[in-house]
Amino acid sequence: MRILIHENYQQLAKWTAYYMANKIREFNPTPEKPFVLGLPTGSSPIGVYTELIELVKQDRLTFQNVITFNMDEYVGIPENHPQSYHYFMDKHLFNYIDIPRENINILNGNAADLEKECEEYEKKIERAGGIHLFLGGIGPDGHIAFNEPGSSLKSKTRIKTLTYDTILANSRFFDNDIKKVPRTALTVGVDTVMKAQEVLIIINGYNKARALQKVVEEGINHMWTVSVLQLHPKGMIICDEDATLELKVGTVKYFKDIEKEELRNSPKLIE
Ligand code: GLP
Repeated sequence: MRILIHENYQQLAKWTAYYMANKIREFNPTPEKPFVLGLPTGSSPIGVYTELIELVKQDRLTFQNVITFNMDEYVGIPENHPQSYHYFMDKHLFNYIDIPRENINILNGNAADLEKECEEYEKKIERAGGIHLFLGGIGPDGHIAFNEPGSSLKSKTRIKTLTYDTILANSRFFDNDIKKVPRTALTVGVDTVMKAQEVLIIINGYNKARALQKVVEEGINHMWTVSVLQLHPKGMIICDEDATLELKVGTVKYFKDIEKEELRNSPKLIE
């Protein structure tokens, strides 16, 4: 897998947005042949979304023929709750880009039959032709979407109980009150992400350093679910210096060296 170590989050965000924009532009999507994008929530992708919005504003990128599938959603909070992932996506991306509403897919955490909702979501992804590019972040315990430690690496979209660690980490968004954080969520599975043609994972900040070390320098393990990226033919981790704190000096030097050309140039849109 490729590992790109950027000096800071701003550079990481710009590089990632331009990389995604280039993928969409190269694909030249049409209504008959849309580009299918998997998207995360969390603080990690916010800078990327800001850069994508800027590109749309400048008329250098369009989401007209892009279909999106979000990774996850809490169970039991209204869509207009400020912490719901529906609300988050509108606030940080969808309200500012030209994507048709009907092209947006987010799991419904209030569906009467949650299991059916999850099964249908998998089918919808299949009907769309599969995901071309899945962007993700990770939790401090190395989880991807809401695939908590111990999740099957072959898992599909389903209901998950959140771990105490995740509830604690996410309580910062719920008035720092762990009692307000939902206990369950709907999430795409590890395998749902891995089936995408390409997977980009953002790992930034000191609090992700331990997870990055596990994922890069240790083996594939269900306790660090994102480590399965090691098996993906087109998997990429995009991190900042802060997140590399627990990596060996040699590992950091190695990946910086093989990506030096990519990191030296500021990101450009292909014409
Ligand atoms: C939640 C989301 C994940 C996200 C993680 C980290 O658990 N379900 O998709 O990657 O938070 O969020 P942040 O980027 O804010 O650290």
